[in-house]
Amino acid sequence: MDIKYNLKSASERRTEPFKPEGDVGFGKLRTDHMFLMDYRDGQWCDPRIVPYGPFEMAPGAMSLHYGQSIFEGAKAFMHEDGEIYTFRLNKNAERMNRSADIVCIPNIDESMQVKAINALIDVDRLWFPQQQGACLYIRPFIFATEDRLSVSPSQQYTFCVMLSPSGAYYASGVNNGIRLLISTKYHRAVSGGTGASKAAGNYAASLRAGKAAVEYGASQVLYLDSTNTQIEEAGAMNHFHILKDGTVIIPTFTDTILKSITSQSIMELGDMLGCEVRQETVMLDKFIADIEAGEIIEAGGFGTAAVVSPVSSYIFEDGRILTVGDGKVGPNIQRIYKLFTDLQKGNVAAPQGWVKRV
Ligand code: PLP
Ligand code: COI
Repeated sequence: MDIKYNLKSASERRTEPFKPEGDVGFGKLRTDHMFLMDYRDGQWCDPRIVPYGPFEMAPGAMSLHYGQSIFEGAKAFMHEDGEIYTFRLNKNAERMNRSADIVCIPNIDESMQVKAINALIDVDRLWFPQQQGACLYIRPFIFATEDRLSVSPSQQYTFCVMLSPSGAYYASGVNNGIRLLISTKYHRAVSGGTGASKAAGNYAASLRAGKAAVEYGASQVLYLDSTNTQIEEAGAMNHFHILKDGTVIIPTFTDTILKSITSQSIMELGDMLGCEVRQETVMLDKFIADIEAGEIIEAGGFGTAAVVSPVSSYIFEDGRILTVGDGKVGPNIQRIYKLFTDLQKGNVAAPQGWVKRV
């Protein structure tokens, strides 16, 4: 399908490369344009790039009432050659369709999703933030637009891609660890539910838990399974821990854990990382005992926005604190962060197909 362009006039658009003065922050800024495509009469149609701005939508649009809405998060980086490169967009497109299946949204051809993102970045390439560690954060999303109030899949949708020149998600970056609240009270997902998707409702459901975490002085919640015995994931990241021999352990993907592209990438890096990375069911009791015994020496979270975020300590609901190692950012996490970000930035050759020029 050919994309139509209805761009801002030259005088309304950015004409110089974006050189932010202060920290750009995460997700605050927008570029000049967005990509849109509609689903009606049983097919995706009318792909177009238009000025970024509000949507016109019926108050009865089903996404507003029943939450039929999904999203993705990906990043593009500027390499030494001054060109912009996306990171594993095909994995995001694949996962978008997995999320779509979970909440009964019609799939979008993966190559069309990738084409849409590339076309939008191309139009707004001057918005790439020229700042250390910054990137273009890519936010594709699909929402139901049919004006109908019965609870059943909508017959109409919009697919939108917007871009946000962004920096680190956690202000502490990789230099300082965050604290996670181990929550037995709040749960993110149950088996048979939508936990393995990026359904908007999963994030609405996480807000109350996130608020509780802040009350405990933590950045996010470490979610357990509904029996409070297994570690699942942490806020908007997969959780991981590192044993004293350097082995990285990520909880096994289940239908209550989002299949993180960052986690999958770290697992695929194998030899380049110089350590074993594997998945297993992580029992909370053993995890605590192993931290106390010094068997687990580092822990953290993997995610597109969060990249590799170290966890310095956990707090329990009774206020008890469990510090990981000496509470400082360990050498293994630093090494993983460096290799992963070097691959994204093109300082180290990435595996075939991971990094693609826009
Ligand atoms: N888990 C949840 C709930 C998330 O929202 C995210 C972010 O996308 C992740 C894990 C990390 O996934 P990825 O590495 O694909 O960004
Ligand atoms: C991402 O890491 O891209 C995400 O989607 C997390 C987001 C909720 C900030």
